Amino acid sequence: MIVLKTERELSVMREACKISAQALQLVGNAVEPGVTTAELDALAEKFIRSCGAVPNFKNYEGYPATACISINNEVIHGIPTSKRKICAGDIVSVDLGAKFNGYHGDNAATFACGDVSAEAKRLMDVTKESLYEGISAARPGSRIGDIGFAVQQYVEKRGFSVVRDFVGHGIGTEMHEPPEVPNFGTPGRGIRLLPGMTIAIEPMVNAGKYGVSVQPDGWTVLTKDGSLSAHFEHTVLITKDGPKIMTDPND
Ligand code: MF3
Ligand code: CO
Repeated sequence: MIVLKTERELSVMREACKISAQALQLVGNAVEPGVTTAELDALAEKFIRSCGAVPNFKNYEGYPATACISINNEVIHGIPTSKRKICAGDIVSVDLGAKFNGYHGDNAATFACGDVSAEAKRLMDVTKESLYEGISAARPGSRIGDIGFAVQQYVEKRGFSVVRDFVGHGIGTEMHEPPEVPNFGTPGRGIRLLPGMTIAIEPMVNAGKYGVSVQPDGWTVLTKDGSLSAHFEHTVLITKDGPKIMTDPND
């Protein structure tokens, strides 16, 4: 069932989202050559707990960390480890969230470590912009398919591809609530968006083909063709006046 959030619920959820956004920004600022993914994860966990919130990924279906940190051809769900150092030229996708007083925030971004290739830069820009295209389509009265269509069109016109096997989601008292929010779709299809819905829109975009595979660790998702991948995500509220990003660190 899709839950429409009350103003009282939203005020708590805004706090969870703000903490999530600030934690993401903190990690993004710490991306530099030589830092390990475990160090970045620890930074996020410490910050989230210092805000009186909890890292909502930790122990989610057995996931062992606060953040998912996925480098280059890793799409999502990379597990932080002290063995993995970030190198200059890497693109680093960080996905994390916080639960505060029973409500969840969830957001992701891909960061460049030092100078990255022109293709990597373009992939990051297109993926980020496709998220904003999707958010703009999330208006009351529109449908879920309108969001996916907006993302997909934007990405494919620029020669990249949208991952099909993982999608965005409703969010609230659970990190993953209905509806599913694919980053591909047909205009006018799917459930209708209503004020009070909160959804996480999260395009995963590959420089090559859209196929992905899961590593033997059971988590890390890789592009099948070895191409680079980027990921951006915001938690978004549908209001009567249009979409409102809840995970804006500057709010
Ligand atoms: N944050 C992911 C999402 O955007 C979920 C991560 S799964 C976890 O939906 F196990 F790592 F938490
Ligand atoms: Co999400």
